[in-house]
Amino acid sequence: MGLLSNLALLLAATSAVVAETTATPNVPKISSITFSGSGCTRDPKFSGTFSDPKLTFHDFSATLPGKNQTVHCQAHLQATGGSKGWQYAVKSNTIRGHVVLQPGTALTHYTTVYFSQKPADTESFKDTLSNSGNRTINRSVVLAGKSDGKKVWSPCIGSDGYTGMLNVNFRAVLTGDAKAYFEATSEEWDVEWRQC
Ligand SMILES: *[C@@H]1O[C@H](CO)[C@@H](O)[C@H](O)[C@H]1NC(C)=O
Ligand SMILES: *[C@@H]1O[C@H](CO)[C@@H](O)[C@H](O)[C@H]1NC(C)=O
Ligand SMILES: *[C@@H]1O[C@H](CO)[C@@H](O)[C@H](O)[C@H]1NC(C)=O
Repeated sequence: MGLLSNLALLLAATSAVVAETTATPNVPKISSITFSGSGCTRDPKFSGTFSDPKLTFHDFSATLPGKNQTVHCQAHLQATGGSKGWQYAVKSNTIRGHVVLQPGTALTHYTTVYFSQKPADTESFKDTLSNSGNRTINRSVVLAGKSDGKKVWSPCIGSDGYTGMLNVNFRAVLTGDAKAYFEATSEEWDVEWRQC
């Protein structure tokens, strides 16, 4: 009897989960967003929502040669009002800006994502733009970055609706032995959800 009723409960629970997979979670409300790093000495402007965040930079620029050949800006984001039993991850990341690369120089950008609850679990997106030609590159760029495939998920949202603290660190590095310049104007990312 005990076994049978446990089985019935298990079946009921399983069908409830199946029924919910088509459900969509609430869009949490951002309760706090702060910034740190040499690329955001004045805070970026934030627009959009938790689902389609956008940062617009005032002073994110890297210069080669000199002291600022590496620049970074890290966003720290917390939210409430999430749906219990869901968790999220950063799916993709897009940075727009302007680059000048003399021959023999390169721009590499890294975006590293982690949750403060588990800082050792990180996911990175990376791309390199090299100038191996003999003319200066001077143009707008859209940097998407390839993921290293180590997707990190937020803590499972509990009944308090708290999403955990997401950290997104964007870093640009100029290398080579000529002159180069990079300025980021904006950064956006997309999130995806799953039940947990
Ligand atoms: C490096 O960046 C800092 C902060 O943005 C700025 O104050 C400084 O003037 C820059 N230095 C050079 C050499 O560009
Ligand atoms: C620059 O490179 C192109 C091929 O990429 C070559 O045809 C041209 O001669 C080079 N010019 C100089 C000044 O080296
Ligand atoms: C890059 O191009 C812009 C115009 O599009 C120009 O004003 C600027 O001086 C150029 N920079 C370099 C380093 O060539």
